[in-house]
Amino acid sequence: MPAVVVVGVQWGDEGKGKVVDILAEHADVVVRYQGGNNAGHTVVVDNQKTVLHLVPSGVLHRGTVCVIGNGVVVDPEVLIQEIDQLRERGYLEDESFLKISDRAHLIMPYHRAIDRARERLRGEGLIGTTGRGIGPTYEDKMARIGIRFADLLDERIFTEALRRAIDEKNAYLQAILKEQVIDYARVYDDYRRYAARLAPLVIDTGIYLDRALAAGRRVLFEGGQGTMLDVDHGTYPYVTSSNTIAGAACSGAGIAPNRITAVVGITKAYTTRVGSGPFPTELLDDLGRKLQHDGEEFGATTGRPRRCGWFDAVVARQAVRLNGLSGLAITKLDVLTGLKKLRVCVAYECGGRRLEEFPAGLSVLNQARPIYEELPGWDEPLSRARSLEDLPENARRYITCLEELTATRSVMVSVGARREDTIILANAFTA
Ligand code: GDP
Ligand code: IMO
Ligand code: MG
Repeated sequence: MPAVVVVGVQWGDEGKGKVVDILAEHADVVVRYQGGNNAGHTVVVDNQKTVLHLVPSGVLHRGTVCVIGNGVVVDPEVLIQEIDQLRERGYLEDESFLKISDRAHLIMPYHRAIDRARERLRGEGLIGTTGRGIGPTYEDKMARIGIRFADLLDERIFTEALRRAIDEKNAYLQAILKEQVIDYARVYDDYRRYAARLAPLVIDTGIYLDRALAAGRRVLFEGGQGTMLDVDHGTYPYVTSSNTIAGAACSGAGIAPNRITAVVGITKAYTTRVGSGPFPTELLDDLGRKLQHDGEEFGATTGRPRRCGWFDAVVARQAVRLNGLSGLAITKLDVLTGLKKLRVCVAYECGGRRLEEFPAGLSVLNQARPIYEELPGWDEPLSRARSLEDLPENARRYITCLEELTATRSVMVSVGARREDTIILANAFTA
């Protein structure tokens, strides 16, 4: 019954899609358990790029069951589009290989409208959300006024819930946010259509997963976002609205904690962040622009440029602790080729004090200066490397440095976007 959780170590976009696609070869089931279509997970197979927002990144493997768990917030219009696009390209031929939790909450048009309007009103202080309605949907879930798939499929309950929600949201949109109101009849019709289209895929996924695990099937849990975007442990309030750490796989998929057998953390060999908020190792100079250019650092969901900086071991150690990482997958090592000297942040300095742990206070964080260790770089392109021996010595030394600073071994090193540009060091399902 191996159950492996994959999480982002940093602020998202670490390459989870690529790593999940590779691990999915050994999995029977792949599960998303939090977040929504704020995620953009890229997989490159046969030089074809697929960006997944809601469907788990195991979908390119025929015969792998993909599950959207109860902890995910689902925009049904986006999901239907994604399913249709995948089917056009020959994937998900049999739709019964995709399962949606009857407890997953729906993103509604008013959630998107509220998300965007609030960001506009925040002006300079904006969070830089993806504008997909993620935060407002989780708010309604916690306020116990959300609409789940089980509710959508029950016409009487849906009608009542939508009426109540639209009345309340329209008052808020109009009076506070100065936005246009939402038309009840239109939303009703659209969502009845989505209900008819998606109903055959909706099941109790918690029971499905429990049975799969009990039957010895291999289940892979695919995190969205990253540890530093976790609503409790990230750079609050510049975070997303869900728990992104490995523990969320239990609540968000409906499995018990003792089911999890391994947790793999994905980290870029450097750091990126989209949106606002603290980023101690950010490079605002030419070097930052070079990483952005060489790493093609533009958001897979919104196309926004990603802020770039050095690897931060304070962040990585926090991720090891919070997620119980059993291994690291280091991605985008190839992007560091050509830099004479590399830096890794080992701690912060703040007001004359050395900080080894990530602080909660925003003003402390804003004053925190990284303390760097320097390592020699390399000039060789890496994308053909398939084993550690194929890497230049200084690249191997860099990997060892990250392992030592985090006290965690690496199980995979990624040297290019394509599935084959990978050095596999251990199989998370068996090792
Ligand atoms: P995710 O959200 O964690 O799945 O990551 P994204 O897909 O948003 O962003 C990662 C980007 O880096 C994608 O464009 C990937 O195709 C690309 N990528 C992943 N691994 C590597 C790698 O090792 N080297 C390079 N050059 N690109 C990579
Ligand atoms: P994947 O799964 C990178 C960021 C947004 C913003 C903050 C809040 O592809 O790694 P939200 O729309 O969630 O309310 O936005 O979180 N963010 C991500 N950044 N990768 C993601 O997902 C992200 N999902 C949300 O940019 O700063
Ligand atoms: Mg992404």
